[in-house]
Amino acid sequence: MSKRFFLTTAIDYVNGAPHLGHAYEKVVADVIARSCRSRGGSVFFLTGLDEHGQKVQQAAQEQGKSPQEYCDALAEQWRDFVARLGISNDDFIRTTEPRHQRVVQAILTRLHAEDHFYKAEYRGFYSVREETFLTEKDRNPDGTWDPKWGTVNELVEENWYFRLGRHQAWLIEHIEANPGFIEPETRRNEVLGFLRSQTLGDLCISRPASRLAWGIPIPFDPGYVTYVWFDALVNYFSVPVSRGDPAASAPLGGPPPAPSDLEPVWPPDVHLIGKDILKFHAVYWPIMLRALGVPLPRKLLTHGWWQKDGAKLSKSTGNVVDPLAVVAEWGLDAFRYYVVRELDIGPDGNWTDEGFRVRYNAELANGLGNLLNRSVNMLNRYRGGVIPQVSTELSADTETAVRETVSHLEAHRLQDALVSIWSLVNRANLYVEQTRPFSLAKDPSQAARLDEVLYNLVEVCRILAVLLWPFLPGTSEKIYLQLQASGSPDRMDRAAWGGLKPGDRIGAAEPLFPRKDLK
Ligand code: MSP
Repeated sequence: MSKRFFLTTAIDYVNGAPHLGHAYEKVVADVIARSCRSRGGSVFFLTGLDEHGQKVQQAAQEQGKSPQEYCDALAEQWRDFVARLGISNDDFIRTTEPRHQRVVQAILTRLHAEDHFYKAEYRGFYSVREETFLTEKDRNPDGTWDPKWGTVNELVEENWYFRLGRHQAWLIEHIEANPGFIEPETRRNEVLGFLRSQTLGDLCISRPASRLAWGIPIPFDPGYVTYVWFDALVNYFSVPVSRGDPAASAPLGGPPPAPSDLEPVWPPDVHLIGKDILKFHAVYWPIMLRALGVPLPRKLLTHGWWQKDGAKLSKSTGNVVDPLAVVAEWGLDAFRYYVVRELDIGPDGNWTDEGFRVRYNAELANGLGNLLNRSVNMLNRYRGGVIPQVSTELSADTETAVRETVSHLEAHRLQDALVSIWSLVNRANLYVEQTRPFSLAKDPSQAARLDEVLYNLVEVCRILAVLLWPFLPGTSEKIYLQLQASGSPDRMDRAAWGGLKPGDRIGAAEPLFPRKDLK
């Protein structure tokens, strides 16, 4: 059985409010998933929630709820958030699910049996108020502790550690030998720089249950739970294992998984993550998998962080963008378009309401929307909505745009793909200005020329719908509906010229992106 293209997002902390950064990551992943399906690929797209840890335990307590009840209520909001962004995920994992906990425990058992862990004493300064160990970096320059930490005590605690030292050399070699493993290149260089210049310290993988109860119990030492990152990263693996995926299940030993007719997914093809969590994914995660003896993920695609008006997103200062409010005001596809068009995968980005409005009006309303609107209107007005003979005047320009778009999509260059698509939008709008169908319509001797122009316009609109499907699926379907095109725009092979058939009738025009006056 062939393997599905396995794509993941980071799993979000359940107790944080869904914001622009979370929405961006999900939309980018969704465009990648849809574009792969559109090109005939079989995709498994996973997203979900990270639900254990100190903060969840504390917040639940403050609300007088059990941590599980607290997570269950928030998980509903997150699922709703994902649905309202039009995300086409195939599964949604919560780290409190038994299918996940079982796998985390099986991994711990296996790695413990093979001597990857040891128990040791840790001596450090502990903030009682924040319930966390502090490092030297947390100290004031004069050696005192900031009052925000409350009482700071020197504490000795035993914990479990994962031996990382033996993995450093092969990991460097792996990253060097596989340039596509960490993208973009600047991030890859950052990880290599870190690995070449510093000796990896062992990773603490436990917390005493007396201090943190809300975690997955360590099977070989009941007084402890797993450290949240050891738990969270495993989500990418526990889902394939619970589907009976052979490559993922084999190393865990035990009885063979129940026979499954689900197509295998392991290893992941793309982990889409933000820059802040690259080290966990580029260092700890490959080491965990290598220690288990499973094939490594193929790519860590690392995006930058959004700011708003040049400042950090922050709930406390009110510097936020509420994605669902934007969707309610401007429509889902306007939101999806702006975030992907504005910010390439890699650098940091800056949201401004003004920039959003400008792109909405210029590129969506006056660019794409106007092209479709006038093409459909003119065909209805001048030809009673009946499609004329096939003409190929714009077919070469269209083929170029299709070729460029597909090659950008294959390389996950989503912003470049939109630029190529809009070069076709602009070409077609220019074609209207140059050919002046409204003048041709007044001259009966130009009837054949008018037929040609009208065919080229509606056919370009149809192909634009196909190119746009991964990005703006709702808009793409609306275009197909107005053109009464047969089939659906969700397959890239429908981007071949000549799909609209002479003699067929199109539907009525309806604005895709109603114009909004600039304030
Ligand atoms: N739970 C961990 C991830 C575990 S993955 C095994 C976590 N959660 S998070 O909710 O804080 O972040 C989820 C994702 O959102 C991360 O990839 C993070 O980089 C991304 N973003 C959070 N804020 C962001 C911006 N301001 N801009 C863009 N993405 C940002 O980390």
